[in-house]
Amino acid sequence: MRIAIASDHAGLEMKNFIGDVLKEKKIEVLDLGTNDTASVDYPHFADKVAKAVLDNNADLGVLVCGTGIGISIRANRHKGIRAALLYSDETAEMVKKHNNANIIVFGGRTMTKVDVAKRIDIFLNTEFEGGRHQKRIDLLDM
Ligand code: RB5
Repeated sequence: MRIAIASDHAGLEMKNFIGDVLKEKKIEVLDLGTNDTASVDYPHFADKVAKAVLDNNADLGVLVCGTGIGISIRANRHKGIRAALLYSDETAEMVKKHNNANIIVFGGRTMTKVDVAKRIDIFLNTEFEGGRHQKRIDLLDM
């Protein structure tokens, strides 16, 4: 499995932490930046990860900004992208089961590393239920 990750400056530390967490799980990580603390604009990083997922260069994307909100909004403007903010453990489970999210999003300034690592585990260890949920997902892009 290959996962594309990116963040703005506000999500940099969390993004790097997530990269380490994924590598520990022997997952290939495609780090699309940012790579330092200079202020950058989060829509560009949402675009990079959305493109990697849509082009099948990654099986899943991870995005981080300060709250996870702005970068989610941008990612979801790409047809075919289902970016979900994992704001709770229950959400981490449900966005796989029901939404089959192809980008998961975290808030670098609003979440702890312990919670983020736990939610990544939950998401990766949950299966999409398909069925009626696939029909609803198909409706998202019509
Ligand atoms: C950057 O200061 C901040 O606005 C951004 O990381 C994000 O939280 C926007 O939604």
